[in-house]
Amino acid sequence: MAKLHLITYGCQMNEYDSERVAGLLGKQQYDLTDHPEEADLILINTCAIREKAEEKVFSKLGQIRGLKQKNPSLIVGVMGCMAQLQQGAILERAPMVDLVFGSPAIARVGELVERARRERRPVLETGEGPLTKLTSTLPRPDRLKAFVTVMEGCDKYCTFCVVPLTRGRERSHSLESILEEIRGLANQGYREVTLLGQNVNAYGTDLTPPTDLAALIERVNEVEGIERIRFTTSNPVNLTSRLIRAIRDVPKACEYLHLPLQSGSDRVLERMNRGYTRGRYLELIAELKETVPRIALSTDLIVGFPGEREEDFEATVEMVERVGYDSLFAFRYSPRPRTPAAEFPDQVPEADKARRLSRLLEVANEVGARKNAALEGREMQVLVDGVSKKDPRELSGRTRCNRVVNFDGRGRRLYGELAHLRITQAMPHSLRGTLVSAEVPALAS
Ligand code: SAH
Ligand code: F3S
Repeated sequence: MAKLHLITYGCQMNEYDSERVAGLLGKQQYDLTDHPEEADLILINTCAIREKAEEKVFSKLGQIRGLKQKNPSLIVGVMGCMAQLQQGAILERAPMVDLVFGSPAIARVGELVERARRERRPVLETGEGPLTKLTSTLPRPDRLKAFVTVMEGCDKYCTFCVVPLTRGRERSHSLESILEEIRGLANQGYREVTLLGQNVNAYGTDLTPPTDLAALIERVNEVEGIERIRFTTSNPVNLTSRLIRAIRDVPKACEYLHLPLQSGSDRVLERMNRGYTRGRYLELIAELKETVPRIALSTDLIVGFPGEREEDFEATVEMVERVGYDSLFAFRYSPRPRTPAAEFPDQVPEADKARRLSRLLEVANEVGARKNAALEGREMQVLVDGVSKKDPRELSGRTRCNRVVNFDGRGRRLYGELAHLRITQAMPHSLRGTLVSAEVPALAS
């Protein structure tokens, strides 16, 4: 059997796409291998969100070049967002690449690989394609948590972002196709699903008849075997009261929301084309906290967006404190090809970006630690998903609010089970707990 080495960069949607590619190529007799030197086909699923992500791919391609010299029949493919954004430029910079294709072409990966093998000249496939729900994936007996793409693309055109260019227009998958996929996952033993979309809470408005994310979550809640439902990423513009109530009312919906803010300054938000103000965002946070008092919140922030002044940045810091995020991702602004902000004249020097980023992370850590500390003494449910990273004799799980808790399992086999823990200690990035009760009382022999 031929061997496939698959390298994945970027977001959860890329991980999802990679699994589909492995599933599709599995049907064509490709077996996955962890060792690039024994592969007949190497595919790199790429991310284009920041320049650094692209640099990683080129340096990986540099390493692979040596393998290709040793094994000229090796096929090397670059797929995903960077392929879609850079297209032919990838072949110019890395001429050893045999195949470049964007996410719309994933359904045809088998045919494209064969073409690259047969034609012995680079194949470039970056056109638009029809929306197809790919469900083929490799069986993974030990998996508990799955991603499920429910919509593709983004129509928001934030001025810094390549996603509308790399992933195309917003298109929702049908409710039935999503439910069918999730039922299949439940049958394989999966217990948690994360519904994915670049703007996941805009789900369904483009379908006939139209529907919404709250309705989808209600239907997923009926799938037996699935215990937890998450979704990401939500856009403040499309966050409805109906969805907020669904987080409270649908039993399996986790009390956790990732709600990208990007900046705390109205001036910057406007130039980013985000479609909301700081005041509107705070209104949403107030409604969330009122409706779901224990909700955990996380966000994405950008520092050093063109024209960001010290006072704009301070407004972002202030928002982190005011909202009280449990965790966050912060990025230095990275100018991207074909996006409006890359052409803005008032680019911020890298040194300022670096300084602002480290200060922001400092504040975020303090706020996060405070939120963690407030959980001490509380009883929380975890889905046990492995052993502690630091001490393999201990078990580890995640709370509904997505925090890691390590605990002594007292010899029980709890993998994949829901356990109730009392939180005994808050650490900077995890919690410690003691077992109160678990679904399966059987003692390990
Ligand atoms: N709605 C999307 C956003 C994708 S990009 C989602 O599913 O998460 C993820 C994050 O990367 C954004 O929220 C933003 O904070 C950051 N980002 C996007 N473009 C960027 C750029 N040009 N420079 C720095 N950070 C960027
Ligand atoms: Fe990007 Fe803005 Fe869409 S961040 S993914 S263009 S909502």
